[in-house]
Amino acid sequence: MWAYELQEFGIDGLRRTEQPDPVPGLGEVVVKLHASSLNFRDLMVVEGTYNPRMKLPAIPFSDGAGEVVSVGGGVTKWQAGDRVMPIFAQLWMDGDPNAEIRRSSLGAGRPWDGTLREYAVFNENGLVAIPTFLDYGQAATLPCAALTAWHALIKSGGIKPGDTVVTLGTGGVSIFALQFARMAGARVIATSSSDQKLARLKELGADETINYRESEDWDKAVLELTSGRGADHVVEVGGADTLPRSINATRFGGHIAMIGALTGAASFNPTSVFMKAVRVQGIYVGNRRMFEEMVQAIEVNGSKPMIDTVFGFDDVAAALNHMKQGSHFGKIVIDYSKGGLQ
Ligand SMILES: NC(=O)c1ccc[n+]([C@@H]2O[C@H](COP(=O)([O-])OP(=O)(O)OC[C@H]3O[C@@H](n4cnc5c(N)ncnc54)[C@H](OP(=O)(O)O)[C@@H]3O)[C@@H](O)[C@H]2O)c1
Repeated sequence: MWAYELQEFGIDGLRRTEQPDPVPGLGEVVVKLHASSLNFRDLMVVEGTYNPRMKLPAIPFSDGAGEVVSVGGGVTKWQAGDRVMPIFAQLWMDGDPNAEIRRSSLGAGRPWDGTLREYAVFNENGLVAIPTFLDYGQAATLPCAALTAWHALIKSGGIKPGDTVVTLGTGGVSIFALQFARMAGARVIATSSSDQKLARLKELGADETINYRESEDWDKAVLELTSGRGADHVVEVGGADTLPRSINATRFGGHIAMIGALTGAASFNPTSVFMKAVRVQGIYVGNRRMFEEMVQAIEVNGSKPMIDTVFGFDDVAAALNHMKQGSHFGKIVIDYSKGGLQ
């Protein structure tokens, strides 16, 4: 089978290799992967900023979708032909994560090799069924970004109809958060650095939009839009540079889902967290139970992921460079049937 290995850090350090086809052991399933999608983490892994001590070579990317082609002894959940997605942290079935579970996250070093390959073997418990109406490319966007947004708003946030949600930017997590917030009947105030993207956010259902580049104090704009009260939830993907404004934009007793670190290393004064009794909750992707619940909700609501661009399997470097450039709106997908490799 073919697999992309990261042999040295950097986009140019990705090489396509030939490897032996995997054979399923007891309780294991072999999946032929048909697509993967990129997360910001994958770019960091490839560039060596996620874990500079990560041992190489390793197969990157956490997200994928494919079909079961063979099963090992004792497998009861799956059979050949089933359409599946691997869960992000292979050992995380339910409850809170721990260090061992976190280490089982795909695509950030061996032994938990990622999805940028033709076949992969998973424990039967490490897979979730694809929503019936989604194709492989669409399904490949769900394991990390969608589940993180679901966890943030539905599980951690306990979002209710009429709540106000702020989303930051137009990356994968933020657009799923917009979609789930609308599904839950919430009002969404969405930010972006681009007016063109703001118009697209409106089309997707954002109630109000703010250009955070033109209005640097976007937190004040959120307060104005909420009659001084502040938002019930902020989906915080920005990190150090955006967190102080996110706290300011949140109502007393509100909820900040702390997800990402796209920006800088500004120092942070925690006073306003307790003075406003804000709940800042760290979110680590999500477990299998959450993933299954999210799939059910997607099935019922018929919502489709927002895909920015689909690249062929030969164009992985171009896909990573596209993410790095930051002009995307939603998810970047790699379709393994494109590129003359099958
Ligand atoms: N904790 C977890 O489990 C978890 C899971 C998934 C992702 N994450 C993290 O969440 C973050 C987002 O991930 P992603 O995959 O959605 O990334 P992505 O698709 O690469 O999102 C990039 C977008 O973020 C926006 N952005 C950049 N700087 C911003 C700023 N200062 N203020 C507001 N928006 C800004 C930009 O949107 P515009 O072009 O519209 O301005 C940019 O296009 C990353 O840090 C990632 O590592 C964490």
